[in-house]
Amino acid sequence: MKNIEKLTLRLADEVKAKNGSLFYILNGIIEDLGYIPEEAIFQIAETINMSKAEVYGFMSFFRNYKTYESGEKFCHKIVVCKSESCEANGSKQLIEYIKKKLNIDFGKCSSDGNYFLDYVYCFGLCASSPTVMVDGLLYEKVTPEIFDEILSPFLDKPDDINLINLEHFAEHENYMKTKPAEIIKKGEPLIFKRCGNINPLSLEDYLDTGGFSALKRAVAAVKTDGDKARIFFLNELKKSQLRGRGGAGFPAGVKWETVYKEKSEDKYIICNADEGDSGAFADRIILENDPLSVIEGIIIAGLITGAKLGYIYLRSEYSRAKYIIRNTLDLLREKGYLGNNILNHGFEFDIDLIAGAGSYVCGEETALMESIENKRGTVRQRPPVPAVSGLYGKPTVLNNALTFAYAVFILVSNENLNNFLSLGTLNSKGTMPFQISGAVKYPGIYELPFGITLGELLSRAGAYNTAKIVQIGGPLGAYFPINGSFNGLKLSYEDISENGGMLGHGGIVVFDGSIDLKLRLLNSLEFFIDESCGKCAPCRIGTVRLKELSERVLNKQNADENFHIIGEILESMKHLSLCGFGSGVYMPLKSLLTYYKDEIFGA
Ligand SMILES: Cc1cc2nc3c(=O)[nH]c(=O)nc-3n(C[C@H](O)[C@H](O)[C@H](O)COP(=O)(O)O)c2cc1C
Ligand code: SF4
Ligand code: FES
Repeated sequence: MKNIEKLTLRLADEVKAKNGSLFYILNGIIEDLGYIPEEAIFQIAETINMSKAEVYGFMSFFRNYKTYESGEKFCHKIVVCKSESCEANGSKQLIEYIKKKLNIDFGKCSSDGNYFLDYVYCFGLCASSPTVMVDGLLYEKVTPEIFDEILSPFLDKPDDINLINLEHFAEHENYMKTKPAEIIKKGEPLIFKRCGNINPLSLEDYLDTGGFSALKRAVAAVKTDGDKARIFFLNELKKSQLRGRGGAGFPAGVKWETVYKEKSEDKYIICNADEGDSGAFADRIILENDPLSVIEGIIIAGLITGAKLGYIYLRSEYSRAKYIIRNTLDLLREKGYLGNNILNHGFEFDIDLIAGAGSYVCGEETALMESIENKRGTVRQRPPVPAVSGLYGKPTVLNNALTFAYAVFILVSNENLNNFLSLGTLNSKGTMPFQISGAVKYPGIYELPFGITLGELLSRAGAYNTAKIVQIGGPLGAYFPINGSFNGLKLSYEDISENGGMLGHGGIVVFDGSIDLKLRLLNSLEFFIDESCGKCAPCRIGTVRLKELSERVLNKQNADENFHIIGEILESMKHLSLCGFGSGVYMPLKSLLTYYKDEIFGA
């Protein structure tokens, strides 16, 4: 056992009690040891001046911090994705196989103490589902046969645990076999055009392809004209009608303007790269393949609003992106794009990288900020909105990673702004990187103008003839039957919403006729229970009651009455929940029960 005290002190010293320090220390311990030993909790609490209960409370909120020791030694950790896209491609059979082979259930260690089995709701590798992670390494398109191959080296040497840490990435080319050039499908992308065509770690490649033109334009203008230039860029962004791509579709220009107008010494910019929606992987692809386009947007947001510090809050499973971003930020500091004197124009701005620890609700902006402040990721009551009172109560621009990349595209030139405005629909301007996976021949990212129909997208993606249902917008999005009436559904914020759904982050999962809808219902109910932050009663209690009642209806216990109560609970959750998670439970369940009630519960 390594010296916990030394390790904790080193990590605490590296992070210097900055925001996100608990994540940094706990993730660092996991990277080094593979788990969090009991004594580390006391050590961390003492080192960063928190109570042991606070540290434990924080840890118990996050899936990644479960401690799992078998006797004296740590065991191999096998994590299986049980979310939509993997389910559409056979994870049910794979999970049954793995449980039987190792003779364990989720959350348990095998009797020989060598394996621990867990599940996750999406690794962001949905285009290559089903996926499994073993000791930190991700494997794609896993079948029972492939799983046997993955496991075979461990069977001889169960103690030989190859913990993945960031330095391994250069060696582990196999880690991500996804080739971005293949994954970004035809079209005329605005923000995905570099992905797969440049070296993500090369500043020269970025500059040679027009990178940093928007920042150079903005820095020079602000240096000369100060606030007049800032207001000009805010107006350009508002003119573009850019809506945030993280889900809610709020106008980015309005958010930036609010933060700009707030009088405060301290302001923050946060890039939300938590990408929790199953079926979504666009943030990962852009951050792994063109990280500078997102980072440029974060720096511009700082320059225009007057913030001096930014954060990239990254989904914990995105280890490769973590490696790339960390190296890119170091490079930018060295080359004068970050620091005290950006591009020699006297502006100050820096960016920290924070990796989360496996909580869906921490993608919600206020829960995310709580967790950066070393607190459990529970949602805050709004108002005030984060643009007025965000991180540590200071004005904060919080946008999705893709929103920053679009802001850069728009602010390069007037021509780009007009190009953006010429694409899309009345209330959804520009393009959207639709991410399609499941029962299709060509899963991947299709960055296309809003307004393309569902039928057209499915046909481009080669949806199988057996395709039966799509779910649009992640686990809180609605299901739509694939048939004549929805083929013409336009993919835009307004059209999907008029049809009882939401576009969310643009993930689209296709299920074919073999989908087990009872399992789908129960899996999504488990997801809601697991991921509810617990702050408000409608969601904390409602999610659990929905599962109990659904099981009763499935078992034909007072079926009509219990089905009726399910409807009532959904209505209450829709109207009374504190955040979009609890109210969002309505859409997937209501649509499933509207279109497939008989198939799930019997006629
Ligand atoms: C339960 C829940 C989970 C969310 N997860 C994410 C996420 O993973 N990534 C994201 O960008 N936004 C997510 N959001 C939306 C954020 O709260 C926020 O609206 C968004 O990041 C703002 O950025 P945008 O305006 O650029 O979209 C989530 C919202 C809810 C209610
Ligand atoms: S709706 Fe759910 S996730 Fe949102 S605050 Fe309430 S308990 Fe938390
Ligand atoms: S990796 Fe399984 S659903 Fe995304």
